[in-house]
Amino acid sequence: MVELVDLRPGDRVLELAAGPGDTGFLAAARIGAAGLLLCTDVAPEMVAAARRRGEELALANVEYRVVDAAAVDLPDSSVDDVLCRFGVMLVPDCDAAAREIGRVLRPGRNAAVAVWAEPEHNDWMTAAGRACLALGLVERPEPDAPGPFGLADPARLRAVLEGGGLDLVSLDDVEIAWHAASLDEWWAVALDTSRMLAQAVASATPAQVAAIRAGAAERLRTYVREDGSVVVPGRARVALAHRPA
Ligand SMILES: C[S@@+](CC[C@H](N)C(=O)[O-])C[C@H]1O[C@@H](n2cnc3c(N)ncnc32)[C@H](O)[C@@H]1O
Repeated sequence: MVELVDLRPGDRVLELAAGPGDTGFLAAARIGAAGLLLCTDVAPEMVAAARRRGEELALANVEYRVVDAAAVDLPDSSVDDVLCRFGVMLVPDCDAAAREIGRVLRPGRNAAVAVWAEPEHNDWMTAAGRACLALGLVERPEPDAPGPFGLADPARLRAVLEGGGLDLVSLDDVEIAWHAASLDEWWAVALDTSRMLAQAVASATPAQVAAIRAGAAERLRTYVREDGSVVVPGRARVALAHRPA
């Protein structure tokens, strides 16, 4: 993403839904002391975490702010590049987020937006959800509802970005591999990162929790290696979007 957007020294870069800040921090290193990274997220706790990490990395050209991607408090045409990794599809009004990206971006410059590809390419994230679904513990999500897979459909992603006044220049699938030392570690990470799973487990009986774990383990079985470690393939999709001059 950082290579795609065509960063230039002195750029003012906006990262939306930055979480702990990794993607923007890569950009900060490239724009130099004259540049500025605005590292933003709607969750104050995430912004605080990003600030701690940025300070550990001694990054001097970063400002940290709480910002809702659907209502960005920046003037029109005021940033040179926008980065948003695994965020736009979580915004309840993702069309508004795309319009905000198109509005704050200077004409002639770029945004890189990463989303997850379809659930069937991301067993790491879906194994537990599918087990919950099979046990009748959760409802099947609406395909277009906000969530990790809400913009997996390339046509929908294109439509959302174009609705924001952006041209879709490229859309690339990026294969990734999720690693865990064991299925127990996978479970701990899944519980810690999936609100759906955490909520399902919180309201389930111990027997139901054991059944979710067993169902998920069965779905991940083909990815478990001889030493017990787990390597699950996944697929992200990265869009390069351009604001016409
Ligand atoms: C899956 S995390 C991705 C974090 C980071 N970009 C990364 O790739 O590691 C999604 C992030 O989106 C943020 N988020 C959700 N809704 C948002 C909104 N309306 N505006 C800004 N950030 C939002 C969450 O707080 C969370 O930090």
